[in-house]
Amino acid sequence: MTIRLGDIVPDFDAETTEGPIRFHEWLGDSWGVLFSHPKNFTPVCTTELGQVARLKPEFDRRNVKVIGLSVDPLDAHAKWAEDIAETQGYAPNFPLIADPERTVSGLYDMIHPNASDTMTVRSVFVVGPDKKLKLSLTYPASAGRNFDEILRVIDSLQLTAQHAVATPANWKDGEDVIIVPSVSDEAAKEKFPGGWKTLKPYLRMVPQPGK
Ligand code: BEZ
Repeated sequence: MTIRLGDIVPDFDAETTEGPIRFHEWLGDSWGVLFSHPKNFTPVCTTELGQVARLKPEFDRRNVKVIGLSVDPLDAHAKWAEDIAETQGYAPNFPLIADPERTVSGLYDMIHPNASDTMTVRSVFVVGPDKKLKLSLTYPASAGRNFDEILRVIDSLQLTAQHAVATPANWKDGEDVIIVPSVSDEAAKEKFPGGWKTLKPYLRMVPQPGK
């Protein structure tokens, strides 16, 4: 099933390393990141899970719950966690879904048969508190993801959910942002009383609201 931006993401029941969950209920009012990794006891995945564990306080600070998924069974997750702690210095501190029947992987279209019939690709789904898909990414097994980038884009998603702005290329939290084209100059005067810089009529830069 293809899940498109703005769709309510599929709900599911799953076994995880932190007990059984029902996804939507588990998310509650938080933002969420659901990410799959192809297989347990593989090198790139080991580094990724260590990185997510290291960055967990950054996800918490943004009110984002993170949850991983692997098609391996629960007992294999527990054994692998020891290797992750030993080699990466961080043990997983977030739930990992065991999906040996490929139920969740199928619901979220995480198995791309031209890549592999049995392993998931590296999917990332960022879900808003309204349970709608805000962003998705698909990486091949050979490329580990940049979780700093995922935090960066969450900053953009959370900011632009609150204010009539968009974020430019390579933007980072605290830098100037763009007034969205649908806001007229007249309306912008009310929203951005501190003023803005017009580089082109369609490109108006303003300090990040709330900073
Ligand atoms: C890895 O995580 O290292 C990996 C997993 C599946 C295929 C290739 C690499």
